[in-house]
Amino acid sequence: MSATISAIAHYIPQTIIDNSYFENYLDTSDEWILKRTGIKQRRFYLEGPTSDMIIPAAKKVLAIRKIKPKEIDCILVCTVTPDYVFPATACVVQDKLGCKNAWGYDISAACSGFLFGLQTAVSFVESGVARKVLLCGADKMTSILNLNDRNQAVLFGDGAGVCIIEKSSDKKLGIIDTDLHIDGEGGKHLKKIAGGSFLPAWNNAVKPEEHYIYQEGQAVYKNAVTEMANSTSLLMKRNKLKPKDITWLVPHQANLRIIKAVGERLDIPDEKVAVTIDKTGNTTAATIPIALSLLSEERKLRRGDNIILTAFGGGFTWGAIYLRWDEL
Ligand code: ACO
Repeated sequence: MSATISAIAHYIPQTIIDNSYFENYLDTSDEWILKRTGIKQRRFYLEGPTSDMIIPAAKKVLAIRKIKPKEIDCILVCTVTPDYVFPATACVVQDKLGCKNAWGYDISAACSGFLFGLQTAVSFVESGVARKVLLCGADKMTSILNLNDRNQAVLFGDGAGVCIIEKSSDKKLGIIDTDLHIDGEGGKHLKKIAGGSFLPAWNNAVKPEEHYIYQEGQAVYKNAVTEMANSTSLLMKRNKLKPKDITWLVPHQANLRIIKAVGERLDIPDEKVAVTIDKTGNTTAATIPIALSLLSEERKLRRGDNIILTAFGGGFTWGAIYLRWDEL
């Protein structure tokens, strides 16, 4: 049996933050941000926690598939900004949606979270552990973003993407091949250290900046280009795919220069590479499902299309997933 993304939807918050917002109080400029990152605007979710962004997207996928909440038997929430340390955001979503028959949990793999969650959901469906998995990639990055630090404030945004994973209509369609990795040595370059058991929030020695993202931009940049390109290239070789065979490359959206460099290394032209970062910034676990959902909404996906998703993020975590589109 093979598994597929049977429906996908997204939620991006209403509040638009243009680059000019930061010019008012940080030593930065629209020109710098656009040139170095490709970001024009991002969305900030001011109203509530991460789960509140998941719910509208989840309601949309249930409506697309015409299924009731009680038919979902597993919920996976990929996020580094859960509502709470515990209970898991999956439990919050289960309660808010009324998915009475679902079990589930959260997956923490930063920007690669959606890929790791997709592989988990596919394994559950293929093994018969679950029939309909609600897979959510969502992050409220503003909850861990130091808005007074120009090195990070301009890069991130909030958002959610949700899909249903279930048996594919044809075993030649759906998720075909996967290449996933972690390397804990990279943890030092990208992290948030306070609030866990290492530096509990109650510890008086905790410095305010330790509640925010810590990122060494250049180390992350170089590794992201190399590993996303290598992982995608491996899947292309293993599945005998030439650049012309790829319908869409959907990369994690951290920086337009990273996205372009990956496309160039793989000889995949710009028009086949999904880009949303100009409008959303980096929404961590949500970038890939948001990009895929927008392609679906714009009717740019056809049955049988060859799509490769690829990501790199904190951990380090990275990888790629090859799928043939099979919206049911
Ligand atoms: N406005 C103006 N200047 C800035 C800004 C800003 N917003 N941000 C940084 N600068 C400055 C720096 O302070 C530095 O100044 P200095 O030379 O006086 O010290 C200068 O610009 C150049 O800094 P670099 O770090 O060399 O800039 P770079 O071209 O590498 O761009 C960036 C920085 C955008 C962070 C880039 O390295 C990047 O995108 N890295 C990858 C980020 C990423 O992938 N994150 C992963 C996801 S997060 C997750 O997994 C949770």
